[in-house]
Amino acid sequence: MTSEQTFIAIKPDGVQRGLIGSIITRFEARGFKLAAIKLVTPGKEHLEAHYADLSDKPFFPGLITYMNSGPICAMVWEGREVVKTGRVILGATNPLASAPGTIRGDYAIDVGRNVCHGSDSVESAQKEIALWFSKEDLVSYKQSQHTWIY
Ligand code: RTP
Repeated sequence: MTSEQTFIAIKPDGVQRGLIGSIITRFEARGFKLAAIKLVTPGKEHLEAHYADLSDKPFFPGLITYMNSGPICAMVWEGREVVKTGRVILGATNPLASAPGTIRGDYAIDVGRNVCHGSDSVESAQKEIALWFSKEDLVSYKQSQHTWIY
């Protein structure tokens, strides 16, 4: 058993559209464990740091404006291969290329309003978790259903 963690965020459009519950349900139902959650409006500087790797992309200013347009539901999910599997649950970056059954494939049609974010590697997950959460925010606990999942 691994305690791999990933950073998942429900973007402002997902929060405004009332999708927090159904997104959490997908991760819970798969067997992943919630380690931290908060609703935040982190501000431009924080969002620019989060997307620093994309700062030279033409869509960067629009991306920051979009991400800064309302509260974001920031979460840490834990479990076996949760980084890779979390991206599968989210779907492709462009919702039109996302399979039905994925979050983006079920709830979005525009790459600039794609509802959610998920870390793309274990290293990015560690960096993103450290950017969005303090150590005290992360809760370590044993779930009773654990032995029925692994
Ligand atoms: P994310 O970081 O949000 O999970 O998305 P991702 O890894 O699937 O995709 P990435 O390439 O890192 O892009 C980050 C976010 O930028 C927006 N985007 N817009 N052509 C465009 O207009 C465009 N391309 C990307 C999306 O919101 C994407 O999720």
